[in-house]
Amino acid sequence: MVADAITFSRLYTIMVFRRFRWPIFFIIAATFLVALAPFSAQFMPSGNSIIPIKDHHHSSPSTVASTASIGGSHICPTTPPAPALTPDTQGRFDWRTIRKHNPIETYAQLPISNPSSRPAVQHTFVAASPRVKNEIASRKEAVREVFRRCWKSYKDRAWTKDELAPISGGARDAFGSWGATLVDSLDTLWIMDMEQEYAEAVEAAVDIDFGPKIDGEINVFETIIRYLGGFIGAYDVSGCHDARLLNKAVEVADMAYASFDTPNRMPVSRWSPKKAVDGEEQLPAESMLVAEAASASLEFTRLSQLTGDMRYFDAISRVTNVLEEQQGSTKLPGMWPISVNMRKPDLTFDGFFGLGAMADSVYEYLPKMHQLLNGIGPIGAQYQKMYEYAMSTAITHTLFRPMVHDKADILIAGANVNGQRDDKGQHLVCFAGGMFALGGRLFENSTHLDIGRKISDGCAWTYKNAPNGIMPEVFSMTACPTFSACDYTSEPGSSAFSDVGDGRYVLRPEAIESIFYMYRITGEVKYQDIAWDMFQAINTHTRTEFANAAIGDVMKTPVENYDSMESFWLAETLKYFYLIFSEPDKISLDNFVFNTEAHPFRIPHR
Ligand SMILES: *[C@@H]1O[C@H](CO)[C@@H](O)[C@H](O)[C@H]1NC(C)=O
Repeated sequence: MVADAITFSRLYTIMVFRRFRWPIFFIIAATFLVALAPFSAQFMPSGNSIIPIKDHHHSSPSTVASTASIGGSHICPTTPPAPALTPDTQGRFDWRTIRKHNPIETYAQLPISNPSSRPAVQHTFVAASPRVKNEIASRKEAVREVFRRCWKSYKDRAWTKDELAPISGGARDAFGSWGATLVDSLDTLWIMDMEQEYAEAVEAAVDIDFGPKIDGEINVFETIIRYLGGFIGAYDVSGCHDARLLNKAVEVADMAYASFDTPNRMPVSRWSPKKAVDGEEQLPAESMLVAEAASASLEFTRLSQLTGDMRYFDAISRVTNVLEEQQGSTKLPGMWPISVNMRKPDLTFDGFFGLGAMADSVYEYLPKMHQLLNGIGPIGAQYQKMYEYAMSTAITHTLFRPMVHDKADILIAGANVNGQRDDKGQHLVCFAGGMFALGGRLFENSTHLDIGRKISDGCAWTYKNAPNGIMPEVFSMTACPTFSACDYTSEPGSSAFSDVGDGRYVLRPEAIESIFYMYRITGEVKYQDIAWDMFQAINTHTRTEFANAAIGDVMKTPVENYDSMESFWLAETLKYFYLIFSEPDKISLDNFVFNTEAHPFRIPHR
């Protein structure tokens, strides 16, 4: 059993997905129109809607956009609406009407007492000199130009498809054919002040049909972080003025919520919408990835805050409680392994641990949940306790200081297999720099801030010392005996990596994400310079005729690109590059918390 689980885990690390991309998870029915027909009788009239659709038919889209952007005022609720809002499905399929097998009697409630005053996350910035300001502004403009170019090609060549193919100029569906890039990019368009494009994109996005047209399984996790996160992010950044976006968020969430209808209320991660609609009973898998099992917390909690509907918060609370109960009984107490059995549930059998692929957002969301909840009450404390326990284990058992020629004082987040540290780095795990820095601020722990800095600096170092200025997807480095002691001499000119297991760069955001957190948290302008070097290297080596494309092997010169541009390039990577060159109050880390797809959710302040 154990041996099997480890082989299983090892296999996955070789495969390196998005968080853990599966090649097969969305299978689209050629016959979806036929499949949809039997459900039309279940459509609910929209007369009971109490999420009002404001000005939808009467004002031009650009009016909606510009009214809200002037002055940036928001009308987001500070306490959850009571009674709860119910959505206007606009005549589309209503996921609330499907048969429930395991109904809930009492829902967990969001804590709503007054928050105590929270420590500030961001550095207190003083105004930059006009010269510096101009230089930074021109960098920001350069980022926006890259985004604009990609967006134009997406619009001209792949409109409403999941992805643009950036070399052939074609289109590709990879995430349910619901227009992943379209929804994922909404809040970036808003943030970059592309008002006309934003308005057009919202018009198209609110027409997407999340009804049960898909034959086969969907990856609920990817659906939640990209689509649900995308709609909530757009709704929140634009000030909660556009109810159409909240309605869409509810539509996606009500579909995802149906995947929690199991006997123990643990979710099904590879889930068939059609089977659920057909009334088939469903069971969570005996072996699933922990990130898929436990990463809906931020999205579902924010949606409960916005709608007053506690079903979402209740659903993720049950998963959090299982994580907490078993946190101390895993093979590496404090952390959860990559593979878990959610049917029992049993999170203790696998021996593969790490902050990276297939687990990452479980850890990332612990401090972020605390922040989104304003740290209130026993639930705020629960997330803090789980975070602190997990991180103290991760620090001791997964992080290492690499031997590098210039003796840089940096850290790499590796893995742990059966109690042995595995000194591999992944681009994806770079997010941990930002997570530790944020946690260090939220819980006033300077050790965490320091570790966050060293992990972020480790990612910056790896970019700078890779042949083309871009870090590979998976690599190995030689570890120093401890974080502080590292006495050795290395051959001048020797490679920074002892091995490169996967040389791709797939337009990932995690390195710039952490550099962005370090800039906003410490105020040190060197992070803007690091970001600029990274941006130039990435843009130079990924730019194609139409947009930007992934790299097959960053260790080769010249690099070769392949025909892929994942939606996170526009949703995350370019957003973080843009924000690090923006005024620090643009999406302040004291007012917003980012989901794992870089969608900013507003923290309700009273
Ligand atoms: C800060 O974090 C470290 C590492 O997890 C831990 O050992 C220490 O007790 C924490 N300090 C405080 C003040 O909580």
